[in-house]
Amino acid sequence: MSHEVVEKNVGLLVVLVILVISVGGLVEIVPLFFATETTTPAPGVTKYSALRLEGRDIYIREGCYNCHSQMIRPFRAETERYGHYSVAGESVYDHPFQWGSKRTGPDLARVGGRYSDEWHHIHLINPRDVVPQSNMPSYPWLSETRLTGKDTAAKMRALNIAVGATCPSCELYTEQEIADAQGTVAGKTEAEALIAYLQGLGLASKQW
Ligand code: HEC
Repeated sequence: MSHEVVEKNVGLLVVLVILVISVGGLVEIVPLFFATETTTPAPGVTKYSALRLEGRDIYIREGCYNCHSQMIRPFRAETERYGHYSVAGESVYDHPFQWGSKRTGPDLARVGGRYSDEWHHIHLINPRDVVPQSNMPSYPWLSETRLTGKDTAAKMRALNIAVGATCPSCELYTEQEIADAQGTVAGKTEAEALIAYLQGLGLASKQW
């Protein structure tokens, strides 16, 4: 009876649907802000060096996440192929996280150490030189463009705020590291920064 009233009254139905979704969402999402697994770094997970942080920004700028996820699901087919499934504590230094949902190319969460730096350099300039059937785009400009590092310190300060607010036991950048940042990245190519980023992905998981 009462169900019929709801079904025949669109306004009431909309209000009740919003209410149900809101409560369901809160119950699912709010506990995550307080669960230790999501607010503590997984063993071996460390903050990004200045160079890797720049590399990560290039990964985002170039839209690599449109074809590559960084989220290994806990299924046999995935763990056999890529390695240990992803855990929340791996993403504590990631703002925004790069889990992604599209896999035109392979998942990259465990790609660190799988290839040499040289392989990555060739692959980024022209993927077909190392994987003939690849349909990944070429990114030749990355090896020609050099970083100035003028924004690196500001990015580190911003990340300190985001990480500090969400992960109490995370390590923040020190004033010294922030002061040295520009010097460590200036003059490096964008490809070098991106490769440094890729080579660190999933390294911590190798010890689990
Ligand atoms: C249009 C989709 C697409 C985009 C965009 C893309 N890739 Fe790929 N990527 C692929 C495909 C397909 C492969 C598998 C073939 C190959 O190795 O080239 C691949 C492979 C890779 C691999 C080797 C992974 C492995 O385990 O063998 C790396 C590393 C990689 N891509 C990095 C990147 C980076 C960094 C970017 C952004 C600069 C990027 N990709 C953008 C499609 C893409």
